Amino acid sequence: MEKDMRESIIRSYSEIAVVQKQSCGCCETGGETPVAAGTAESSFEPDLGCGAPLEHAALAEGLTVLDLGSGSGREVFAAARAVGPSGRAIGLDMTPAMIDLAEKNAAILGVQNAEFRLGEIERMPLPDGSVDRVISNCVINLTRDKKKAFSEIFRVLTPGGRFAIADMTSTAGLPEEIRNDPSRWCECVGGALQTDEYLSAIRESGFRDVTVVSDQADHSCGREGLGLRSLTVTGRK
Ligand SMILES: C[S@@+](CC[C@H](N)C(=O)[O-])C[C@H]1O[C@@H](n2cnc3c(N)ncnc32)[C@H](O)[C@@H]1O
Repeated sequence: MEKDMRESIIRSYSEIAVVQKQSCGCCETGGETPVAAGTAESSFEPDLGCGAPLEHAALAEGLTVLDLGSGSGREVFAAARAVGPSGRAIGLDMTPAMIDLAEKNAAILGVQNAEFRLGEIERMPLPDGSVDRVISNCVINLTRDKKKAFSEIFRVLTPGGRFAIADMTSTAGLPEEIRNDPSRWCECVGGALQTDEYLSAIRESGFRDVTVVSDQADHSCGREGLGLRSLTVTGRK
C-alpha cells in the first residue's frame, strides 16, 4: 500500500511535468496544457501550490534555501533571486520528470545559484544543519510520514534556521475512503492531516515560535464539506 501510494504520486506528477492534467496536482490546473518552455518565468507552469510561503520566509542575501517538492522550480528561481549570487537555492523532488523539467527551466533562465536534487522529504539527501531556510508549497500533505518529514526539516536546518510551509490540512477527520484513495492523495486531499495534529507534529519535532500566518478555507473542485484549509505556517529551530 505504502509503495503503491508513492508510485501513484510519482506517476501523476510525471504526467503533470509533461502535460498539465486536471486529474491531479491540487486542482490548480484546467484541462490539458502543454508545459511551455519560454523566456518569461510565467511560462514555467504548472503552479501546483496552495499558498505563498516565500512571502513569509524572511529571505536575505547569502542564505541557503531549500524548497521541498520543488516541482517545475518556480519558487526555487524566485528564492535564488532573493538570496542573490552569494546565496543558494536547492529544489528537492522525488519525481524524476519534475527534476528534469526544473533543470531545463534553470538552463533557459540562466540561473546560476539554483540546483535540483532527486530525493524524498522523509530521507533528505542533505547533511545536518546545512540550510538556513526551508520552504514548501502544498507538498507535506503528500508525505506518508509527516512526523518524519518535520524531523528531517529540523535536522537539515541550521540552529536558528526558519521554515515557511503552505499546505492542506483539514479541520475534520477525513473519511477513510478518501484517506485510502491514491487519486485523492494526488489532489492534495487524501493526505491532509487534521490541523491540530499537523501543528502538534511540527512542535514535537522541536520547532519554536510555530505560527499560523495564513488560514483559508478551500472549497475548490468539489471539496466542500471536508473542512479543508490552505494553511501557511512558520517556525524556527
Ligand atoms: C502539488 S506539487 C507542488 C509543486 C510546487 N511546490 C508548486 O507549488 O508548484 C507536489 C510536488 O511534490 C513532489 N513530492 C510529493 N511527495 C514528495 C516526497 N515525499 N518527497 C519529495 N517530493 C515529493 C511531487 O513530485 C510534486 O512535484
